[in-house]
Amino acid sequence: MTELRYEYVPPSSTTRLDHVGTYKRNVPVSLERMYENALDWEHLPHLHASSFGSLTWVDSGAWGWRAYATNAKGQESLLELRLDESARRWITTNLEGPSAGAEIWTHVFEVAPRSLDLVIDFFVPGVPLEAREKVGMAYARAYEVLYDEDVWMMSERQKGLDQRLDAVEIGSDCRIATPAPEDLPMKVEVANRTYHLNRYREKWVVHPALCPHQLGPLSAQIDGEGRVSCPWHGYQFDVESGECVEGSRCQFGRRPAVAEVGDALVISFRE
Ligand code: FES
Ligand SMILES: [Fe+2]
Repeated sequence: MTELRYEYVPPSSTTRLDHVGTYKRNVPVSLERMYENALDWEHLPHLHASSFGSLTWVDSGAWGWRAYATNAKGQESLLELRLDESARRWITTNLEGPSAGAEIWTHVFEVAPRSLDLVIDFFVPGVPLEAREKVGMAYARAYEVLYDEDVWMMSERQKGLDQRLDAVEIGSDCRIATPAPEDLPMKVEVANRTYHLNRYREKWVVHPALCPHQLGPLSAQIDGEGRVSCPWHGYQFDVESGECVEGSRCQFGRRPAVAEVGDALVISFRE
């Protein structure tokens, strides 16, 4: 079993009887990213595919969300997350299923604009006194994995937001020697934005490296149906039309054109 890289605090005699422990860690993200992540029910079965099998939405809003979720063993639970920004806290409750009655209380403390201390308390009813620490450690290990994945998503999204440009520079271009098939897909930079260059149906295609949904890392590989996918919420896009194939309203923004000029490719935005 690997060591926890962060702090697990066992329950004490002064806490609630069903308290099985506390997990603490710092995350290098803003409060805005953290709340956005807590309210984002949609990423659970994609970003956290090792913890969740599937998810069926029931309700959501600025208050939080409710959804049926299956775990890696296929057991279904009804989960509810309630956010209380005034208390800098959200409570996740297991309403139905094998761990019904379990509550996870997360408190967040802003250390700096992009540095948060999280204190996560696990309350699980019916655990005998001598087993509390073992159960608490299991929760802490599970949360460590979830937060490693969430920190990756929140940091990459922040990086994407920081670099986002409101308008592309018309006329800017990128010239490269025509790549050999084994060099594809290839990353190219045009107007300070990153794209993937590839061939599909014997034509050059350029698609953004950042997902138009929430700036996740779109796959560089095009599948057999002409799609690229994003690991954060599982959206898939048709590389020719740029549309999201699940019918979600998001789609690729303006893309540069590719032209063959002698032995070179010119990838550019034109009027
Ligand atoms: S960021 Fe949500 S699907 Fe890509
Ligand atoms: Fe998450």
